Amino acid sequence: MKKIAVIGLGYVGLPLAAAFGEKREVVGFDINSKRIAELKDGVDFTREVSREELAAASGLSFTDQLADIADCQIFIVTVPTPIDEYKSPDLTPLIKSSESVGKVLKRGDIVIYESTVFPGATEEVCVPVLEKVSGLKFNEDFFAGYSPERINPGDKEHRVTSIMKVTSGSTPEIADEVDALYADVITAGTHKASSIKVAEAAKVIENTQRDLNIALMNELSMIFSRMKIDTHEVLAAAGTKWNFLPFKPGLVGGHCIGVDPYYLTHKAQAIGYHPEIILAGRRVNDNMGPYAAAELVKAMIKKGHTIADSKVLVMGLTFKENCPDLRNTRVIDVIRELEDFGCQVDVTDCWADNEEAQHEYGISLIEKPAQSEYDAVFLAVPHREYAKKASSELRQYMKGDGVLFDLKGVLPMGEADLRL
Ligand SMILES: NC(=O)c1ccc[n+]([C@@H]2O[C@H](COP(=O)([O-])OP(=O)(O)OC[C@H]3O[C@@H](n4cnc5c(N)ncnc54)[C@H](O)[C@@H]3O)[C@@H](O)[C@H]2O)c1
Repeated sequence: MKKIAVIGLGYVGLPLAAAFGEKREVVGFDINSKRIAELKDGVDFTREVSREELAAASGLSFTDQLADIADCQIFIVTVPTPIDEYKSPDLTPLIKSSESVGKVLKRGDIVIYESTVFPGATEEVCVPVLEKVSGLKFNEDFFAGYSPERINPGDKEHRVTSIMKVTSGSTPEIADEVDALYADVITAGTHKASSIKVAEAAKVIENTQRDLNIALMNELSMIFSRMKIDTHEVLAAAGTKWNFLPFKPGLVGGHCIGVDPYYLTHKAQAIGYHPEIILAGRRVNDNMGPYAAAELVKAMIKKGHTIADSKVLVMGLTFKENCPDLRNTRVIDVIRELEDFGCQVDVTDCWADNEEAQHEYGISLIEKPAQSEYDAVFLAVPHREYAKKASSELRQYMKGDGVLFDLKGVLPMGEADLRL
């Protein structure tokens, strides 16, 4: 059985390495030595893989030393694919990790990319790096594959092995081998795409479709708010039709849904097509934070609150519920906008790491918010600990007649003053 190296042990790489590690020898490699030291102690700060699951992956070892993956024959790359300040793809981690793999690449090896990219990135960007550093020839000496990841952090139901996986390879034989490799651990089965580009395109459009659908809900929410119609009630009614899709309005943050469409639009622009719908969706979604803050402020003014020096409690800072990931959270837009209005904002989050919140956003998280302290409570991220609270409990944080904004509409109908 070929030995696998997984390069980049984050939300995607670690669960995958653990799944393979139950069946065969796998070396998990990451440049973050702190992460490696924690994993060797059985600790996964992302809370995606438990101590017991790590122990069950008996074939899995961890390293930050490139020499330790030199004898592997399959390299699976799961490094981040962020965007830069101009919303262009930042391929640095992908290029750097390809350079690392290139240094240890041997005849017959296969390099499979899992990171979300634009169609063409594997063969046009990564493979040339592998060829240059290794001195080997693509599809003669070494081969490539692409198999996008579909996990959903914080979701204990849809896990790496229980989600059907798209696979592909740089030759028909390699496509078969890559497919068989994943079929061995993915109980939900695999879908072998006809080419690497098809597999790359499939992943990026899955997230683009989701982004656009949420953008439509956000636009509807802004329209209905002006008409004093509750969007969630409209969606419940429309949802009784068999083919109405169950999307909800909300903030679109994180490093997938709000980022991946820019990979596709970047490539589209590079080949002379200027996307309209995809970027319109991005604009709508990126404006939801300031919009929600303005809605809250209007409601506070209507209830007689003075905005300057009013106190607002924001509950939840992570980009989604039941997940400690703070990267690209759009709750920050709400906070900044409220601060711009002159509100004093306290933020609490039972999942987020205070040090990271300080480092990334300069926000010091409140551990236990005081009772009868706030003019408004903004339930931004309904982690299960918050979602199970009754609205009366949330109102206890407020003094007098405050405004309770249930951003995602998790409280029973009519119990919050506002929702999107
Ligand atoms: N998190 C998700 O929900 C999710 C779902 C599907 C797909 N994806 C995609 O998968 C990829 C990885 O995402 P993630 O959330 O796991 O990222 P992550 O930031 O959680 O993890 C990436 C890991 O890669 C390591 N790394 C960075 N550069 C490296 C290098 N040169 N060599 C070795 N290790 C390196 C980092 O230290 C980190 O531990 C991205 O392309 C993302 O879009 C993510």
